[in-house]
Amino acid sequence: VSFRVVVNDGSKDALLNLLGLKNVFIKQLPNMPRAYVSRLVFDRKHESLALMKPGATPVGSGSAAAGGQTVIGGCCYRPFREQKFAEVAFLAISQTEQVLGYGTRLMAQVKERAKRSGLTHLLTCADNNAVPYFKKQGFSKKITLPFPLWQGRIKDYEGVLLMECKLHAQVDYLN
Ligand code: ACO
Repeated sequence: VSFRVVVNDGSKDALLNLLGLKNVFIKQLPNMPRAYVSRLVFDRKHESLALMKPGATPVGSGSAAAGGQTVIGGCCYRPFREQKFAEVAFLAISQTEQVLGYGTRLMAQVKERAKRSGLTHLLTCADNNAVPYFKKQGFSKKITLPFPLWQGRIKDYEGVLLMECKLHAQVDYLN
């Protein structure tokens, strides 16, 4: 597998990868309104890390492929560069590829990329059933990022838990 950063630059490759990612999110996050998922995934303020597997798209999987690669998961996030944090909006791995360690590797990539771009915190509104996963990835419900920095930028709603992961400049998250 490989990881690819995808931003909506209007290219065919980017659009195909974002479409594949959107389909994974819609399937794995059934409580999220489809239109909302689409809007954020294709929004130019958001970036995504797509987890790619070589091979053709399985028939009926709903996935899209670009360059002979299939999107099997990923993470869509929005960096707030001035406030030095990113919000993880959606994160999911295709059903048949879960519990193989990909979710952990994906989060390590997100952390390393965020750290290298100068961000100090990741915030997310974790679905209640994903809270144990986020805890394993170093997220905590204790929010240390000063409130004025994220107030009005993060939407907290019912059925989710706001969680934070502090990023350390000296840590190599890929090692
Ligand atoms: N409950 C408890 N433990 C979990 C869960 C869960 N729902 N999911 C994963 N874990 C554990 C695994 O058992 C594993 O534990 P271990 O390290 O002790 O073996 C660890 O978390 C990491 O497992 P991975 O194999 O790396 O994770 P995976 O590839 O399965 O991806 C993910 C985890 C992304 C949560 C996946 O299960 C998924 O797509 N779930 C459905 C979508 C979802 O809930 N996404 C998050 C919603 S919140 C948001 O998007 C902001």
